[in-house]
Amino acid sequence: MTLSKLLMLLLAIAVTVCVLLPQPALAQAGAATYKAKCAACHGPEGQGKVGPALKGTSLSNDQIANLLTKGDDAKKPPHKKALSGLSTDDAKAVAAFVKGLK
Ligand code: HEC
Repeated sequence: MTLSKLLMLLLAIAVTVCVLLPQPALAQAGAATYKAKCAACHGPEGQGKVGPALKGTSLSNDQIANLLTKGDDAKKPPHKKALSGLSTDDAKAVAAFVKGLK
């Protein structure tokens, strides 16, 4: 193998690691937010309680994050309006966590 091919291979590995790693880290940050802000209504495992079950949701990460930070007029409270005390990053993290619920 030539040096340049080796470098390309290393670069490819580095890029792959960077793309794959942040997701679980993000979901982990979301776990704490979920427990504090969502579990009471959606259940600790996302199995549903007052609110619908979230595990296996067909919504995308972005749809979930948007619902949390912007609210949706067509939804029932508390999601008619943006949830208070939730930053965009918190919303993304918690959305990643919700998508990981099984
Ligand atoms: C006060 C109770 C309550 C809290 C707190 C709450 N939810 Fe909800 N959630 C609901 C209810 C009720 C609905 C159903 C709204 C509707 O369908 O009109 C819902 C719907 C949703 C939906 C849409 C589900 C679907 O399939 O359409 C998502 C996603 C969601 N909640 C995520 C969250 C997340 C994440 C948090 C925490 C940041 C959270 N909710 C906090 C009660 C709550």
